[in-house]
Amino acid sequence: MPKYRRYVFGDFTGYLLDPRFTDTSHDLVAIRHSSAVSHWSDQYIHSHGESEEYYLLLEGQMDLIIEDEIWTLKPMEMLMVRPTIPHAVIGGIGPIKHFVFRAPAAADWQTQNEMPEFYFVPESQDQREVLKEWGFRCSLRSHQNMNCWLTGIGSARNWSTDFLFAYLDYPTYEEANAGIGARHKLYLHRSSWEYYAVLEGEKTLQIETEMVSVKAGELLEVPPGVKHFMAGRKAPYRGLMFRVPVLLDKETI
Ligand SMILES: [Fe+2]
Repeated sequence: MPKYRRYVFGDFTGYLLDPRFTDTSHDLVAIRHSSAVSHWSDQYIHSHGESEEYYLLLEGQMDLIIEDEIWTLKPMEMLMVRPTIPHAVIGGIGPIKHFVFRAPAAADWQTQNEMPEFYFVPESQDQREVLKEWGFRCSLRSHQNMNCWLTGIGSARNWSTDFLFAYLDYPTYEEANAGIGARHKLYLHRSSWEYYAVLEGEKTLQIETEMVSVKAGELLEVPPGVKHFMAGRKAPYRGLMFRVPVLLDKETI
């Protein structure tokens, strides 16, 4: 198995990772990205038997129906739909740039209903942060959601045993590299896969004995058992970090 794998998402539209369409090593997460696509609506309202679905909007607007309500998604907002909850994308405003993560990547679609013929987007959804039985919507521009585990177990803001996710936003060099010298130690994950996606800036990792740079528009996959650590970031830095599945399996070398 290679020590790491690099994917380019920048201007790419399609599946970066999905056992149905791409050569993947596991079925723990499916990753889709779009760039500059016009708005669309799904064919059916559907649910997923076991997987959680995460929409991360980078540009544009997405309108979704979740159960019987309409929710909008604005740039740098994330929306999560828990398993068995009926949902669909019903429209929006393009051009749209976004990520979709589905964890695990099971083929577990269940068609629920026909799409509504008309829908009405509530004029103002002033409470952008929404926490519901069905999942959540939140803004990654709000400080409480940055630089912490947004989903996962333990201290994570939202419970998930399938997707450990963080949005990192460090405007300055000092913030982007705080504490790096002190924890200059190789570590590995016994069973989980780690991913780093860079939105702005650059990140350098040591992977085994090699220095690997990840630029804006790139996603790096580090398989379980591979020794690595974060060696530095160029600021301003904005990026995503996620791990599947959610396990406390870190081993410092
Ligand atoms: Fe879905």
